[in-house]
Amino acid sequence: MPTHSFKLGVLVSGRGSNLQSILNQIEEGTVPAEVAVILSNKENAPALERGRQSGIKSLFVNPKDFTNRADYDSALVGILKEHGVDLICLAGYMRILNADFIRTFAGKIINIHPSLLPAFPGLNVHQQAIDHGVKFSGCTVHFVEEEVDSGPIILQAVVPVEKDDSAESLADRILQEEHKIYPEAVRLLAENRIRIEGRRVSIQEFTE
Ligand code: GRF
Repeated sequence: MPTHSFKLGVLVSGRGSNLQSILNQIEEGTVPAEVAVILSNKENAPALERGRQSGIKSLFVNPKDFTNRADYDSALVGILKEHGVDLICLAGYMRILNADFIRTFAGKIINIHPSLLPAFPGLNVHQQAIDHGVKFSGCTVHFVEEEVDSGPIILQAVVPVEKDDSAESLADRILQEEHKIYPEAVRLLAENRIRIEGRRVSIQEFTE
């Protein structure tokens, strides 16, 4: 793995395919960043194994070791600070972060969500899109704010909904786009090319 000064902390709970797409792009040299630490609230998350395979410190932080959510989140803050992270990527992290965590890393937390926000925030997103009858769905990389799936939008990709789509088939096609736009958003942030004004995010031209 190449080393870089722009350090990522990645929070995961499950499969870790988005984590993998970021790791792959770092390995290929397209994303000038380094994953400093991976944290999971699930011991058996395959994402942890992916991290370990890449030689990255990958820790299970057990929620049961903490009396409440605030203590848990503040333990995560401690580990992320210890590793000097510049950006926190939520990649299938299935816990809501508390306000202190979000304030501590204000403007430095991003998430990938499998719909075209602000449509279909929350869970069961693909079924919601199909049931609603939308012709297009997709995915969104956005900054994380206290309200779930609400922060300024960095990148989106559009995916048509086919008439015979199931939640699974739609999820598979959207996931392929997630794997493109998530590493791309990390690259833009690592290159310091993202500016936020209110809700609007602009991307600066690349200058050496
Ligand atoms: C992805 O669909 C992502 O959009 C959502 O959770 C899923 C995580 O998948 N937030 P993976 O763990 O990255 O494979």
